[in-house]
Amino acid sequence: MSHTTVIPASTYAGYPAIMTPHQLDTMRARAQRDPDGFWLEQARRVYWHRKPTQAFTGSFEGDVSIRWFEDGQLNVSVCCIDRYLTDRGDQVALISHREGRQASEKITYSMLHERVCRLANALTHLGVEKGQRVAICLPMVSEAVVAMLACARIGAVHVVLFGGFSAEGIAERLVDSGTVAVITANVARRGAKLVPFKETIDEALRKAGSASSVHSVLVVSTSDDPVLMLPGRDYNYHDFVDEFEADFVPVLMNAEDPLFLLYTSGSTGKPKAIVHACGGYIVWAAYTMGMVYTHQPGDVLWCTADVAWITGHTSVVYGPLANGGTTMISDSLPTHPYPGRWWDLVDQYKVTMLFTAPTAVRTMMAEGDEVVKKRDLRSLRLLGVAGEPISPDAWQWYHDVVGNKRCPVVDTWWQTETAGIVLGPMPGVQALKPGSATMPLPGVEMTLIDQQGGAVTGPGEGALCISRSWPGQARTIWGDHERFRQTYFTMAPGRYFTGDGAKRDSDGYYWITGRMDDVINIAGHRLGTAEVEEVLAEDHRIVESAAVGVPHPVKGQGLVVFVIPRKDAAGEVTEQALSRLIASQLGRYAAPEAVYLVPDLPRTRSGKIVRRLLRKIAEGQIENFGDLSALNDMAIVKMLCDRVWGQM
Ligand code: WT7
Repeated sequence: MSHTTVIPASTYAGYPAIMTPHQLDTMRARAQRDPDGFWLEQARRVYWHRKPTQAFTGSFEGDVSIRWFEDGQLNVSVCCIDRYLTDRGDQVALISHREGRQASEKITYSMLHERVCRLANALTHLGVEKGQRVAICLPMVSEAVVAMLACARIGAVHVVLFGGFSAEGIAERLVDSGTVAVITANVARRGAKLVPFKETIDEALRKAGSASSVHSVLVVSTSDDPVLMLPGRDYNYHDFVDEFEADFVPVLMNAEDPLFLLYTSGSTGKPKAIVHACGGYIVWAAYTMGMVYTHQPGDVLWCTADVAWITGHTSVVYGPLANGGTTMISDSLPTHPYPGRWWDLVDQYKVTMLFTAPTAVRTMMAEGDEVVKKRDLRSLRLLGVAGEPISPDAWQWYHDVVGNKRCPVVDTWWQTETAGIVLGPMPGVQALKPGSATMPLPGVEMTLIDQQGGAVTGPGEGALCISRSWPGQARTIWGDHERFRQTYFTMAPGRYFTGDGAKRDSDGYYWITGRMDDVINIAGHRLGTAEVEEVLAEDHRIVESAAVGVPHPVKGQGLVVFVIPRKDAAGEVTEQALSRLIASQLGRYAAPEAVYLVPDLPRTRSGKIVRRLLRKIAEGQIENFGDLSALNDMAIVKMLCDRVWGQM
């Protein structure tokens, strides 16, 4: 790290920074001195029906309980809509761009209020009650945003599901969450491809059978493509919803009532639903987005994330709206139907803040500078990335070519579990270092834990932990609090373990080194290698498998799978078929780079698969394997190298 570039904050002298470096230091010190007072002050960023008098009231010890602002009452849809109706009812809250459509939708705060209320009435009419779960499985259309806010308004808990999941994956999640209603689309267009959303939901509900509690399905028609509708269960969204009254009195929620569940991958195969609570989440969304994406009147924020990820919740919907901003969604792809598609949209909608994943930056970088330089990107004033590591050269390209060296690039580190930005710079206030997500926001107490379990002081490396709760912290794993405790609070007792490793330099900047568990990150999508192995384990022709992540130039990481077929099935299983099976069960992003059929896997004497070695072989680092003395059979190493890299 001795040659890192440092870009001083003064580079962006024209940037409308919201505070001075000194004020930021003061804020940090205040948060440290009096965390409760600090967070109660930050809680005033949102509208409360009853103001909280307590900040954190839980504990990281024992059973672990996370509770914030417990005696406060509010409704999150009011924080995001109603409070802005009087002074900016006519301001655009949501721009929805759809490929292949002439005009985009521009939805003002007043219109958003109307639409959210109609759906709130419709859901109530269907019998959806406070506390019940509603699944939202939609492409990037305005109804997705409306649906989340309508759930919040009636106190229902939304569960946004990724449209790329298989029917099995959706069925499992509908059952696990006890969902009672689903809001979906007939189909979605992804570039030239048509993705059958409704058909997949139908199949999921068939598979779930009596284990499912779903009684109603609302279907948004995104096109003329017809789908089967089951009378009494399925409703055409607009035919049904648009008839309801455009006003709905928000249901009063306790701060700790759940707002949403969001499924994410962990190191075991079973999907886990992270639970976020109304009060803490919305304060945290308003705070983190307000600090890093410092919204000013006239700003248009385009975060390209799908609503089904945490970024889609916090950076697309709740963060911008809680701050009274204008957020944009689009179902476009960066390079389809032609290279530079996103740059044209930035110009067309005068996007001022662009937030995307490093994988998209790398994809667009690969098309060459000319594609960018031909376009007018003067509307941009802030660029952001999140979700996976960005290399210093991709960062620099984004900064120099896209931002024309004018716009700060904010690399923000966070997780489904943290709900909002944890590491990230305040633009125009802090110096930037390409490749580093800078440092924690005020109020976050980050600690690196070394191999002996002690806290690293000063510069060093270790497991990235957070030592004090923050309002947006996940409350639990739905239906499995013990798994929550075990996953996050046992590695470093008394602290939250993120799953990541990191280095801290002498300026206190953090450099993420990657996951320390069996989770890989493909194009910003988290995937547990155990999920892949579980899919394969269900195929009776397969004895065992091992999945590993390898570096990939565009996706960051790619998936490579080693599979032992049963001897009597050797001719039947093909690498292509297994690859298709994984993609169809887990989602298209999980499609492996390679599947290798092998007679055995490297193991220790106790039979444990040596993944470190498999990773090296898959990556091609076959000159230096390190210490192999624990291996029970050395011949397997040569066999695997020959299999992957040809006869040597
Ligand atoms: C994991 C969380 C940003 C939220 C969306 C992803 C990795 C996230 C960064 C970053 C390096 C990053 C971590 C983390 N990650 N942001 N800026 N630099 N790595 O949320 O799906 O829950 O994934 O993404 O490994 O643990 P998620």
